[in-house]
Amino acid sequence: PGDTQQGLIQKETQAPSAESTHGQGARDTPHLGVCPFPPQVCWLAPEQTAGKQKPYMYTQGQAVLNRSFFPCFDTPSVKCTYSATVQVPEGFTAVMSATSSEKQKDNTFVFKMSQPIPSYLIALAVGDIVSADVGPRSRVWAEPCLIEAAKKEYDGVIEEFLAVGEKLFGPYVWGRYDILFMPPSFPFGGMENPCLTFVTPCLLAGDRSLADVIIHEISHSWFGNLVTNASWGEFWLNEGFTMYAQRRISTEVYGLAYTCLEAATGRALLRQHMDNTGEDHPLNKLRVVIEPGVNPDDTYNETPYEKGYCFVSYLAHLVGDQSKFDAFLQAYVNQFKFQSITADDTLGFFLEYFPELKEKGVDSIPGFEFDRWLNTPGWPPYLPDLSPGEQLMKPADELAQLWAADSLNVEAIEAVDITAWRTYQLVYFLDKVLEKSPLPEGNVERLSKMYPKISKAQNAELRLRWCQIVLKNNLEAEYSKVKDFLHSQGKQKYTLPLYRAMWGGSEVARALAMETFSATAPQLHVNVQNYVKKILGLEGAED
Ligand code: BES
Ligand code: ZN
Repeated sequence: PGDTQQGLIQKETQAPSAESTHGQGARDTPHLGVCPFPPQVCWLAPEQTAGKQKPYMYTQGQAVLNRSFFPCFDTPSVKCTYSATVQVPEGFTAVMSATSSEKQKDNTFVFKMSQPIPSYLIALAVGDIVSADVGPRSRVWAEPCLIEAAKKEYDGVIEEFLAVGEKLFGPYVWGRYDILFMPPSFPFGGMENPCLTFVTPCLLAGDRSLADVIIHEISHSWFGNLVTNASWGEFWLNEGFTMYAQRRISTEVYGLAYTCLEAATGRALLRQHMDNTGEDHPLNKLRVVIEPGVNPDDTYNETPYEKGYCFVSYLAHLVGDQSKFDAFLQAYVNQFKFQSITADDTLGFFLEYFPELKEKGVDSIPGFEFDRWLNTPGWPPYLPDLSPGEQLMKPADELAQLWAADSLNVEAIEAVDITAWRTYQLVYFLDKVLEKSPLPEGNVERLSKMYPKISKAQNAELRLRWCQIVLKNNLEAEYSKVKDFLHSQGKQKYTLPLYRAMWGGSEVARALAMETFSATAPQLHVNVQNYVKKILGLEGAED
């Protein structure tokens, strides 16, 4: 206890738990009145599903939750194959992260994963789920009421992502790539369970605009699932390389301008995170020390993703030639596939692969030392050039500027036509508006009326930003949107920022937080529940 690495939520935290690596220590159970074993196998009542007819269960292994699912060496440093036999009641289907699955008699499903994987990648879901093909080696799985939307969202697009991934990083070794659309309380955007990515139903935007999450999870097929971080303290090896791979695929598929725009929204998240925690917070380095008894999930933040992305981009910059760096990534995957490694392995291999760089001593250029990247908290010393996205960012920057003015230049505002803007361009614009908020009195109301495409959006990324703007500007007339959004889904990255904003706001906002939490808590994943409790100063996991 007292370890300052206690996570993102350190500001709300009183005393961290050192008693177990489970999110829920045994001390919780008297309050919850349930089984003393951490309930990390998630059991959902029918009301918690999209169809609201049948119950549902699923597991989420990452980081250290699968020890409550089956006995295992629950560390990413150990890999093994597995098989499972799962019998379910009539009318239910079981799916797993496995290379083969077969339905036998008596509703019994037999699964085999023929490649060695770490324990955290073993996943099971059981519910009223059906599937539809969306490509030669891909299908979507979802509750019947969502399956059509799921098929429409991704029909014919997954194969291109996989093919580009294979071209860049080498063979896709997992056989199938399927996607399971989870119930609304699923706490992540996506989880890269091999052969079967689990995703939030928020991705069903109707226009494929949130496919970056799918590309991200596909990228884990090489970075994370084949080459795995040996400990959760080096999580950036999974996520930083995956962000880089995601943006390489995105560049090939959507072009550099769009990808730079998406990367700029990622950089904005890193900025927000470092502003919230202070740049020199110990979690703001790539290699994190996770003391015994600290739950790795409590160290989760943007640094391994976006600072990790910057470091990999820096390595590419040292090489100076994209195709040479792509070839390095492919050789890296080939060298370490099916292994678990540390950053020293990665960087040692990099220097071996590029002996001329090793000779030049690129690992110790003052200010950019590899050691500094890994072990010093703070803003990345090198930022990749995102100016190819300027053509998309500049109009959004300028429009945000116009809306921040004391007296609005309505003519100039009306001259900008946002109807053709892509989702990430709107997201970028809203992040800028949020940065400048609170805006002068009345401006946000006008903005809301002028852009129903934003203020009445169904797209989850837009809804999140709009709710953040509503709260930062105390726009009480639209508080119901915050409530509705939090009732509709339980993704951690959407839920926690909104509770933080409400709790940091007015009395009315705080009351909204309490009211919303008491109504939705039973629907939230238990980890998310506990993080919200900490934000609201309620008894949480570490009371
Ligand atoms: N592996 C992560 C999700 C995760 C991380 C689960 C840590 C449990 C503990 C997944 O690949 C991920 O990063 N998802 C992101 C997608 C985004 C970066 C495109 C998410 O859920 O937001
Ligand atoms: Zn990831």
